[in-house]
Amino acid sequence: MKINVNNSSISLTVGDRRQFPRDPRPQIALSGRSNVGKSSLINTLLLRKSLARVSSSPGKTITINYYDIDKKLYLVDLPGYGYAKRSLDSKRSWSSLTEDFFIKNPSEDALKLVIQLIDVRTGPTDDDILMINMMIDRDINFVVVATKTDKLSKTALQNRLDEIKKEFFEGTGIDILPFSSVTRAGRDELWKLINDSL
Ligand code: GTP
Ligand code: MG
Repeated sequence: MKINVNNSSISLTVGDRRQFPRDPRPQIALSGRSNVGKSSLINTLLLRKSLARVSSSPGKTITINYYDIDKKLYLVDLPGYGYAKRSLDSKRSWSSLTEDFFIKNPSEDALKLVIQLIDVRTGPTDDDILMINMMIDRDINFVVVATKTDKLSKTALQNRLDEIKKEFFEGTGIDILPFSSVTRAGRDELWKLINDSL
């Protein structure tokens, strides 16, 4: 599918499950802990500086934000999880909204791919593993993207990727795509995966 990334805009901000869009347009969602780089990745995919709001303090995105990409697909920025300093109440509303997105979403069939971000330096957290297991259980198509690769040297990066694969993903058939919103490494590969999923 030919997609004009310049033709993109924020289309919908959802804070309650009654607001989930019902149209069948394909959706690609971004999942990952707070501050891992979901909004930055959206901007990188779209070659935009600040369409998706990048947090100066973690835990900012507490709504689900839908970006309309060339009227052909939605990129869906999910709230970050695992940020301990959020107050109990907003933490609860975060988790139920994200849960609703996966479990009570009227356009569930439109979800073509989840881009699951992990920080390449820390590797998957317990919450990341929970999320991945949930997606396996529910047969949701996902890809694991290890981001902030620019923070490691080339050799350190390769070693870290090998360690993560060995420790968490050996024998699962799950692959990891290295990515950086600073150098744009992995951008073309990710667009290819998105296109393949549509
Ligand atoms: P929440 O909205 O809180 O869930 O965070 P988020 O996952 O959307 O993260 P966001 O894109 O706002 O990025 C968080 C911080 O990490 C910002 O300071 C970004 O500039 C930085 N960041 C994101 N991606 C990269 C990357 O690839 N490399 C480097 N060096 N920094 C990054
Ligand atoms: Mg964000």
